[in-house]
Amino acid sequence: MPQSLTLALSKGRILDDTLPLLAAAGIEPAEDIKKSRKLVFDTNLPGVRLLVIRATDVPTYVELGAADLGVSGKDVLMEHGEAGMYEPLDLQIAGCRLMTARIKGAAVPEGRRRVATKFVGIAKQWYAEQGIQVDLIKLYGGMELAPIMGLADEIVDIVDTGNTLRANGLEPCEHIADISSRLVVNQASMKMKYRQIQPLLQRLEKAVADVN
Ligand code: ADP
Ligand code: PRP
Ligand code: MG
Repeated sequence: MPQSLTLALSKGRILDDTLPLLAAAGIEPAEDIKKSRKLVFDTNLPGVRLLVIRATDVPTYVELGAADLGVSGKDVLMEHGEAGMYEPLDLQIAGCRLMTARIKGAAVPEGRRRVATKFVGIAKQWYAEQGIQVDLIKLYGGMELAPIMGLADEIVDIVDTGNTLRANGLEPCEHIADISSRLVVNQASMKMKYRQIQPLLQRLEKAVADVN
């Protein structure tokens, strides 16, 4: 009797890239995730279940062992902290950059900077490494508005095409990190369920290589 394996997926934009990758790896949900309000899905593989949860909750489920594996953006992992998890595979989906940005043409602020971001943990560490003193302002979205409204001197946010920055009269400044989604594995699961996790990992590794 095989043990069950639970893989936590990030809903939202990562899910759009994850489902084709799972399909390429031969992992098919038993019903259409996009058309369902359910949060738990069986798959074609015996004992393998999928959870569909908020992207920011995936590391919590995996760290605490409520899911054995997860798909999570590197930004979310850096912000959450990566203790208790292994990160064996870069899935090479949902690629973007974490950057600072300011109003186009604005001078580098002198003295303490007011920085608006949802990534306060990452920002705190990065500015400290740069030797720049900051007051961090926690926001939950639409960071681009903060400099326009005078709430902050700059932001730390995800940049992909740069369209959102441009549309709001901002420009990217410093590059903090390259971001993509990663497969994460609970450390205890990796030991206890290695015989089931290993073939799943191999399928996903091959799917990533085939797609790219
Ligand atoms: P949220 O509601 O948390 O913003 P999203 O689905 O928009 O959820 O984003 C989830 C993850 O997708 C982010 O943590 C990041 O890793 C990645 N991501 C976010 N924005 C972009 C983007 N514009 N292009 C590519 N990847 C992105
Ligand atoms: C994300 C991110 C930026 C934008 C970057 O926002 O926070 O605003 O995408 O992408 P671009 O460089 O291609 O314009 P999202 O659309 O996820 O909105 P959100 O604030 O609801 O997360
Ligand atoms: Mg978003």
